[in-house]
Amino acid sequence: MQRQLWILIACLINAAYSTAADLGNIPKIVHSGDHFALLVDGAPFLMLSAQANNSSNYPAALPKLWPAIDELHANTVEIPVAWEQIEPQEDQFDFSFVDTLLLQARAHHVRLVLLWFATWKNNGPSYAPSWVKLNNQRFPRVINTKGEQKNSLSPHFNSTLKADWKSFAMLMQHLKHVDAQHTVIMMQVENESGTYGSVRDYSPTAQSLFAAAVPSELIKALHQQPGNWQQVFGKDADEYFHAWHIARYINQVAAAGKAEYPLPMYVNAALRDPFNYQDPNTYSSGGPTWNVLNIWKVAAPNIDLIAPDIYNNDAAFYTRTLDQYARADNPLFIPETGNSAEYARYFFAVIGHGAIGYAPFGMDYTGYSNYPLGAMKVDHDLIALFAKNYQLIEPMMREIAAWSFAGKLWGVAEPTDTHQQSIVLSDHWQATVSYRRLQFGNDTPTGNETPRGGVLIAKLGSDEFLVTGFHARVEFVNTISDKPFMLARVEEGHYDHGKWIFERVWNGDQTDWGLNFTNLPQILRVKLAEY
Ligand code: DGJ
Repeated sequence: MQRQLWILIACLINAAYSTAADLGNIPKIVHSGDHFALLVDGAPFLMLSAQANNSSNYPAALPKLWPAIDELHANTVEIPVAWEQIEPQEDQFDFSFVDTLLLQARAHHVRLVLLWFATWKNNGPSYAPSWVKLNNQRFPRVINTKGEQKNSLSPHFNSTLKADWKSFAMLMQHLKHVDAQHTVIMMQVENESGTYGSVRDYSPTAQSLFAAAVPSELIKALHQQPGNWQQVFGKDADEYFHAWHIARYINQVAAAGKAEYPLPMYVNAALRDPFNYQDPNTYSSGGPTWNVLNIWKVAAPNIDLIAPDIYNNDAAFYTRTLDQYARADNPLFIPETGNSAEYARYFFAVIGHGAIGYAPFGMDYTGYSNYPLGAMKVDHDLIALFAKNYQLIEPMMREIAAWSFAGKLWGVAEPTDTHQQSIVLSDHWQATVSYRRLQFGNDTPTGNETPRGGVLIAKLGSDEFLVTGFHARVEFVNTISDKPFMLARVEEGHYDHGKWIFERVWNGDQTDWGLNFTNLPQILRVKLAEY
């Protein structure tokens, strides 16, 4: 009896120790040239994610989240953790939601990205505890040019910064102790920071900072001559000043968190017009919009990436935004995008741009819809549209992430202004992707009635490619020689735990008119040869 008791105690001690996170294997973002990977369990991982609705961050809501996540075949869930719920009274912490969430996420075999809703949630402090958001004296709000208060906390006060970072650091410390499995793979610090309705804070504190010299590291990085904000940046000075101070603030929150437990950390952006000038009074000024990314990069080295939230389904808008945020110094991640049908195809463009992850927003059955940003109704049919993509890619997501990291992955989504696109795969080969063709014959592509095509291509060897997608035809073009070529072998199959499983060869009608993808999940390995 006594021996059994000792064994039990030994097991408990062992379990207690094994819950502390192993920092050697902690998720991290790595790069090789211009390409990035999120390493999870030591290997590139592609987040096939979904973001829960804003108020799904309570144990009572979780039973309405998991059925949607399971149906979606997501491998990652993004979900808020609110400052007001973990520190309802100052210095009194409650991690019960986090603990419940971790257990349930593990039971559903998904990883988590936690969204720290604190000083900024869509510009405002609604998710800050009452002791913060109702105490203007201690935690001042932004003052506009007319002397009016806006519902956005000022980034210029240490009282606010320290209260936020202390709470975030406690959260990270807690995670370190309870998440040996690395269920949590990344943290979002704040949410769509910035200020609506005032380009910056014009309080006396802000005014004296604005009159001071621009920090020398920013001057150096942007190759400017020293001076104060107005002198250096002229008409952009107000916005750049606000961006610098918000980025600085968030950088310090992230640094405090990383000092406890250094998970990858990112910020998300409410977007500005990607093509034309837009008055900063009409968007979240100071947040990481494309025009201030260089400022954010200097101000916030502890932020591993800046991610755009894309709620505009215009093809030119979408791809331009991907181009703006996929930079040599910025891994691409789409933490939020619309969840209506027309957005599903962009999955292929996002992944093909080298993204480490992608998430439609509001994917739970709590009964809320953010229409017109997203779908009118989140039901099984809607989830099924996005699930199709994840079911296709999930069994080979490790391979996809590795090809992306090696710079051997391309992807496109059906545009609206043209029904044919070209992808340059190498000096030798291009692919032509066209939309709405018969599977047989050489008809003119007219584009799907509602655009829904998408294609992903990976380079497996100099003349060998993996090709998959939906509602599109793929044809190859030889760009360096006049020699004729053929599809020497086209295998349909799938990956299973890293191994290619052959199913059949496509030949004859199935290859005479290009590779025609329908709504069926089909993955092809294509060998090209000149003759
Ligand atoms: C973007 C925000 O980041 C989300 O939290 C949410 O408010 C959506 N907008 C709108 O549903």
